[in-house]
Amino acid sequence: MAIKTVGVLGCGLMGSGIAQVCAGAGYRTIVREVDEAVLKKGIARIEKFLSDGVARGKVTADAKTSTLGNLTGTTTIEDLKDCDLVIEAIVESVEAKTDTFAALDAIVGDSTIYCSNTSSLCITELAAKTKRPDRFAGLHFFNPVPLMKLVEVIRALTTSDETYQAVFAFAQSLGKEPITAPDKPGFIVNRLLVPYLLDAIRSYEHGLGTVEDIDKGMKLGTGYPMGPFTLLDFVGLDTTYYIANIMFDEYREPAYAPPPLLKRMVLAGRLGRKSGQGFYKYDK
Ligand code: 3HC
Repeated sequence: MAIKTVGVLGCGLMGSGIAQVCAGAGYRTIVREVDEAVLKKGIARIEKFLSDGVARGKVTADAKTSTLGNLTGTTTIEDLKDCDLVIEAIVESVEAKTDTFAALDAIVGDSTIYCSNTSSLCITELAAKTKRPDRFAGLHFFNPVPLMKLVEVIRALTTSDETYQAVFAFAQSLGKEPITAPDKPGFIVNRLLVPYLLDAIRSYEHGLGTVEDIDKGMKLGTGYPMGPFTLLDFVGLDTTYYIANIMFDEYREPAYAPPPLLKRMVLAGRLGRKSGQGFYKYDK
């Protein structure tokens, strides 16, 4: 299974990062977004990241040119017809993902592999709803995608050995460090990270300390790059709430239950950096 052309569905924060690393690794990359304005914003995010990288001396001018040269943005799903591998990074909805893969099934060749970047949905369910459950795997990237080394490779119950090996090797070819994770909510990293973040909120609700002190404690006391509240704001409180609910639904363990404050902050629109306010305030 030679992978030369990669399709990325969705050009939001994760999709644009995934498209960037694929194009940067030399793959012809076609990123499709339904909304023209979101597509433009995503491509602009990639250009800015690469320009900042050049300014920091981390990216060469040639690498920036070749990455952008390998990248095409589109709003037409038919443009993905020649893709050998398609990575889906659209909204976290089984229905939306199923509909998009169904549209793709009518366009791409039989050998094309599908991957989902879902952080919480069941890979086996998504795979079973396509015409190629054996050529389907989870490929879970971390934010910010161009900087985070890890990728989780998730086998559905139906993923063939050949597909799993091809996806694992593909992740390595991006310069990432893949690990194999089970098809259970949270995979490996969120399974451990989300209860920690929820516990930080619960502890704060119970008066453990200020947001700033708890963050400082975990950052300086354990060497984490961000304290839990900075990370919650970074990931998005809505995203964390969504993942926590899926994990709680499946495991029924209190560790995964979203604390009341998290729900109320989401309801109030305090979603973190993206909304201008979460546990901290941000300049828009
Ligand atoms: N191009 C190339 N390199 C760049 C760059 C650019 N545009 N911008 C920054 N870098 C490099 C820097 O030069 C630096 O490299 P160095 O370590 O060799 O000096 C490195 O990237 C870090 O950059 P900064 O110094 O600007 O920033 P920080 O040191 O503050 O790190 C961070 C930023 C990487 C985001 C760090 O704070 C971090 O790792 N935070 C935790 C993020 C995290 O946990 N993400 C996972 C969230 S969970 C998730 O995504 C799963 C989902 O399902 C919810």
